[in-house]
Amino acid sequence: MARKRLVVGNWKMYITSPEEASAFAVSLRRKARTIPGVEVLLAPPFTLLPTVADALHSAPIQVGAQTISAFDEPKHTGDVSASMLKEIGVSFVIVGHSERRAAGETEDAIHKQIVRAGEAGLTTILCVGEKEREEAGGHFSVISNQISSALKNLSSKGAKKLIIAYEPVWAIGKSAQDALRPQDLQEMVIFIKKNLAETLERKVAMSVPILYGGSVEGANARDLIAQSGVSGFLVGHASTKLETFLEIIKSVRRDSR
Ligand code: PGA
Repeated sequence: MARKRLVVGNWKMYITSPEEASAFAVSLRRKARTIPGVEVLLAPPFTLLPTVADALHSAPIQVGAQTISAFDEPKHTGDVSASMLKEIGVSFVIVGHSERRAAGETEDAIHKQIVRAGEAGLTTILCVGEKEREEAGGHFSVISNQISSALKNLSSKGAKKLIIAYEPVWAIGKSAQDALRPQDLQEMVIFIKKNLAETLERKVAMSVPILYGGSVEGANARDLIAQSGVSGFLVGHASTKLETFLEIIKSVRRDSR
């Protein structure tokens, strides 16, 4: 049976109030039930995690965090550890988002976060992406370096709970016409699979889902999924309005054409 497709909503700091978050989650829960074959995941900011986890309790929609601490010992003021998240019902975490890399997160910290997530039994969505595309193809080595440094020595248990999100930084936060073209995405998906096969056990590597993120909207989701070989999407701004998020979820169904 074909693997389910994935749509992950990354709310960033767009949705801020518990009331709005709860109403969104309750409606999503009701509406997504009628869209089979798609796994929906939601990553609200830390403050809204308990509210959203509560509203989605026992629903087939996973709740995740947008980052985690690279540490597991308690002396880290302001940090939130993987095990703390696990305790409130979180099942996945986004690691290495370009907005966090831009704020100073290092390759070493990203690697440690993946280790911590694995120890707590959380699924990791590792974001990789180049700042700009180069004629000479330099963006491929950026991706290759990000993958090898983040995933070095990853246990096969950790690798089985890994998802890669390819998010070219230049395509984030714009609109559908500024997103990557399906043929360029297809080329990158093949390149990422090859890199994973060199870093992880080959069989496990081939089963790692690869998502695309960067200006995914209802208008481009269908073509991107049909022509590129990705397993789904990591969606930012369009995941914060129920209508646009549902439009994307519907368009990734295998029978949506
Ligand atoms: P966007 O963000 O969909 O708003 O481009 C994607 C992301 O940053 O994960």
